Amino acid sequence: MATTRHGRVGPLVAPATGSAPLDVDALLDDPATEIIVCCGSGGVGKTTTSAALALRAAERGRKVVVLTIDPARRLAQSMGVGTLDNIPRPVREVDGATGGSLDAMMLDMKRTFDEVVESQASPEKAAQILSNPFYVALSSSFAGTQEYMAMEKLGQLHEDARRTGRWDLIVVDTPPSRSALDFLDAPERLSSFLDGRFIRLLLVPARGPARLMSAGLGVMTNALTKILGAQVLRDMQTFVAAFDTLFGGFRQRATRTYELLQARGTAFLVVASPEPDALREAAYFVERLNEERMPLAGLVVNRASREPEGSLSAERALAALERLEEESGDHDAGLTGGLLKLHADRVRIVSRESRLRDRFAAAHPDVPTAVVPALSTDVHDLDGLRLVGDLLSL
Ligand SMILES: Nc1ncnc2c1ncn2[C@@H]1O[C@H](COP(=O)(O)OP(=O)(O)OP(=O)(O)O)[C@@H](O)[C@H]1O
Ligand SMILES: [Mg+2]
Repeated sequence: MATTRHGRVGPLVAPATGSAPLDVDALLDDPATEIIVCCGSGGVGKTTTSAALALRAAERGRKVVVLTIDPARRLAQSMGVGTLDNIPRPVREVDGATGGSLDAMMLDMKRTFDEVVESQASPEKAAQILSNPFYVALSSSFAGTQEYMAMEKLGQLHEDARRTGRWDLIVVDTPPSRSALDFLDAPERLSSFLDGRFIRLLLVPARGPARLMSAGLGVMTNALTKILGAQVLRDMQTFVAAFDTLFGGFRQRATRTYELLQARGTAFLVVASPEPDALREAAYFVERLNEERMPLAGLVVNRASREPEGSLSAERALAALERLEEESGDHDAGLTGGLLKLHADRVRIVSRESRLRDRFAAAHPDVPTAVVPALSTDVHDLDGLRLVGDLLSL
């Protein structure tokens, strides 16, 4: 039976066989750990895990900043990041007895994009780009912009940490993509779009030898004008022309952040629910990190079902239910029957989940794993985060 600072947390989930337990506290306490990135498919608990790890690290003495992405409103409010202003702010009510601290921020994708433009272009050019309707649409809605900007923000926070010494650990949440891999793929996709030869060829008036093709391009441009309207096309043309000098800068920054993700001080945690899809996605991600030589710290299986109390097997519970139904002569075996059925269902779910985890562990035996049980309520305040932190490091 597990006990924590917060008292008993109830029966544990079945331990994962075949993989080593993830030692979360060792990871958080190691001064060589500078960046922790929580990845995983949609809705598995990335934001919760990042916030819980950041709080735990802070209360164990690290100077932490956590970059959250779209946290649920109540959680954001409890961490003091209810307003979107792209600036890390101290989280109050963190226990600072060990000398640690926690700053938190919520990613403002558009603001981050604007900052990059402002840092790369002259003030006049930046103003021209920022007010371009095509830019406004791109910076707030292009698929992949959020992933790119999360990485960009990580790069900025890392530079700030180096320069000011304000933080010694950065914990990064990742956007709610369907696939965990989007986080790694999107920046490349966005920068190839931005410096895409294709749109440049279409939009920028032909120069040099390309002039030979200009008759054909004229036809294309005319067709585009019909489809998009003259104003949109003009906006795109001025955008691409103004952005021209920034392309190199964008790529360079994306490359630098990519290198940061490969650095020794970086630790990826893959979060998954104990479901086939999420675990399959986690397996792809683990393989991809390996290919990219990015350091994986472990797997977090979140929202695992708790093992029911006692040692009654599903089979015996169902046999007892059957007997009860026979005796009472109908299919309504009352409260006892209902409980027996519930028990059998839970035993089955727990063993299905543990089979899924075993399968993952068999394919990836060297990935240390932590298992966090499903709590009875959402995690929406610091106490909830502390509890998740405790469960992560059992
Ligand atoms: N162990 C848990 N027990 C109970 N509820 C949990 C647990 N972990 C997370 N939750 C809840 O599940 C919901 C989704 O969690 P969270 O927002 O962390 O997922 P996410 O992976 O960040 O999602 P998205 O992909 O949308 O960003 C939240 O309401 C959170 O409070
Ligand atoms: Mg999230």
